Amino acid sequence: MARQRHIDTPPAPPDEAAREVAAAERTSERAWQAALRPRTFEDYIGQRDLIDNLRVSVRAARENGWALDHFLFAGPPGLGKTTLAHVIANELGVNLHVSSGPAIDHKGMLASLLTSLGEGDALFIDEIHRLAPVVEENLYPAMEDFRFDLFIGEGPHAKAVTMQLPRFTLLGATTRMGLLSAPLLDRFGFHWQLRYYEQADMEAIVRRSAALIGVPIDLGGATEIARRARGTPRIANRLLRRVRDFAAVERDGAIDGDIAASSLDRLAVDHAGLDALDRAYLSVICERFDGGPVGIEAVAASLSEERGTLEEVVEPFLLQVGFIARTPRGRVATAAGYQHMGLVAPTKAPSGGQGGAQGRLF
Ligand code: ADE
Repeated sequence: MARQRHIDTPPAPPDEAAREVAAAERTSERAWQAALRPRTFEDYIGQRDLIDNLRVSVRAARENGWALDHFLFAGPPGLGKTTLAHVIANELGVNLHVSSGPAIDHKGMLASLLTSLGEGDALFIDEIHRLAPVVEENLYPAMEDFRFDLFIGEGPHAKAVTMQLPRFTLLGATTRMGLLSAPLLDRFGFHWQLRYYEQADMEAIVRRSAALIGVPIDLGGATEIARRARGTPRIANRLLRRVRDFAAVERDGAIDGDIAASSLDRLAVDHAGLDALDRAYLSVICERFDGGPVGIEAVAASLSEERGTLEEVVEPFLLQVGFIARTPRGRVATAAGYQHMGLVAPTKAPSGGQGGAQGRLF
């Protein structure tokens, strides 16, 4: 007997958007992800309180001809910081210039970026915590007074020239708010920590993306992909693409809960969304370091992994789901972390543990 399937017909996306996504898929994953991005506040799913605030500011700026304040977005990769910059520029009706902290590696580079801006344009600087100090110092007068100080010539004949810049909006993004200097942070009119997306929003994002790529998906399929995507739209889209491949090769192309779960199991993405690196990280803390506390350097060395990747990508989610905790003496695995790994948590605090914190953890 044929298995009962309830495949929803996704709402038809505009032809143009679907064509753009299909063309982007032939280019690169990055281009494909970009094509799936929402373009307007209306299309943006999740982060409701932030979107509501931005709507007000953008509307006030547009209707009164005011410059939009400089905004800073913080949060782990994949939560939509770049997407928000594109949405804001689109809603303001201005050009978005895109760069990143490491790419602006000297003052001249900053000067050329700032002088290429048009009146009212937005400048997006990703990884803004990685700006060189000299570049950062020169950004302050640009942000405050739309001015840039240049020195022409050298030695005693050097002449200071002040260039007036167009009014612009700086949109900064960082995965490490804590690394931003106080003077830079102070020059943003507004900063916001993006949160991991809730399950219902993740499901809506998966369904929207599936509609754009023309893949039928039922509620079970969307739920399963959303549940394993670590509250992160970029990961949801990536998983959707992989599951779509399995559904196309091994089924009739439609995604339901079964094919989503079996494909993701085979891709080693577990039911909580942890991938091989997440599990290796947890396993090192639980098994090699007896649950911690252990310093990040020791974990990174054991995994032969960059400390930054662990701090920016792996740990925020494990902290969020409560599988690890940070203590002043290092990282510790929680009882939930042990349980997730199918391990038995030690009955007493791990060696070197801090009485108070450990007492709560186990
Ligand atoms: N695709 C990626 N992120 C999204 C979001 N927040 N809303 C809608 N579609 C998305």
